[in-house]
Amino acid sequence: MQKKVTVVGAGNVGATAAQRLAEKALCDVVLVDIAEGLPQGKALDLAEAAPIEKHDSRLVGTNDYEATANSDIVIITAGIPRKPGMSRDDLIKTNAGIMKNVVENVAKKSPEAVLIIVSNPLDAMCHVAYEVSGFPKNRVIGMAGVLDSARFRCFIAEELDVSVENTHAFVLGGHGDTMVPLPRYSTVAGVPITEMMEKDRIDAIVERTRNGGAEIVALLKTGSAFYAPASASVEMAESILKDRKKILPCAVYLEGEYGINGLFIGVPVKLGKNGIEKIIEITLQEDEKEALLKSADAVRKLVDDMAKM
Ligand code: NAI
Ligand code: 2OP
Repeated sequence: MQKKVTVVGAGNVGATAAQRLAEKALCDVVLVDIAEGLPQGKALDLAEAAPIEKHDSRLVGTNDYEATANSDIVIITAGIPRKPGMSRDDLIKTNAGIMKNVVENVAKKSPEAVLIIVSNPLDAMCHVAYEVSGFPKNRVIGMAGVLDSARFRCFIAEELDVSVENTHAFVLGGHGDTMVPLPRYSTVAGVPITEMMEKDRIDAIVERTRNGGAEIVALLKTGSAFYAPASASVEMAESILKDRKKILPCAVYLEGEYGINGLFIGVPVKLGKNGIEKIIEITLQEDEKEALLKSADAVRKLVDDMAKM
């Protein structure tokens, strides 16, 4: 039977994710939004592209959750995005309310689904989804590290004039200014970039990666990035749908790993048919560990603030 993925939020990220899922023929797609006509119109438009794009994924747009029943994966992109001058954290109150409402509906209709959370502030929204759904921790996963690592890879490839396919990178930590790009674990054809680039160039790329989201917000002015975020969400979904067991940096609930307890934060994990199948603990140097713990502190503060709202 064809797999089913629900995408909640038919805005920029959600609609683009729906397009990529369908055009890769990975699954049937249900697109949900509160805006009347928006998910229906986008789903119909995407369905009408199918004969040209040559896939048989069925696409449905809806304002309620009936058609989402028994989804294998639910990607949640509902919420408001950043405008210039706003940080991801400025979105917290509005998006926490939206996340709660969405997850209550989703969990009722698809109790066995894997949730991929996209809405910002990402790590805090994962906490809301985890608590409201009551799902086990292997089925609540935040998308951020794949995007941040893809940005890092794009900049490395540009700097060294090599194929992006030759690049690998890891960005750990929270999806915010304290994220932790790891140059030692970032490679070109297996060679660490620390052996291929001067320190000042690596520092510049690390800084650009940290500001990757803000750079695009400043250019677009009306919202935030969506092509790469959609690609990142779909890479995670594909690894789960096809049980590919890819190792990807994702926001997951840690219980002691990396010395962090009771918090969603980005670390490398194995993604397969059960969602998170393993949390990979890589060895960190003292300064890397310190940066990860600092990032975890920032996420914890945000989660604590959210609880007081
Ligand atoms: P957008 O504004 O284009 O789309 C959001 C959609 O959510 C809108 O169509 C809106 O009607 C819908 N929505 C609002 N409340 C809803 C509800 N209760 N139920 C269903 N739908 C609802 O925004 P965009 O650009 O798609 O971004 C979506 C979210 O993803 C934002 O919070 C943004 O910050 C976040 N984001 C996170 C990234 C990450 O790396 N984790 C990357 C890019 C975006
Ligand atoms: C990004 O990094 C807005 O979180 C989003 O582009």
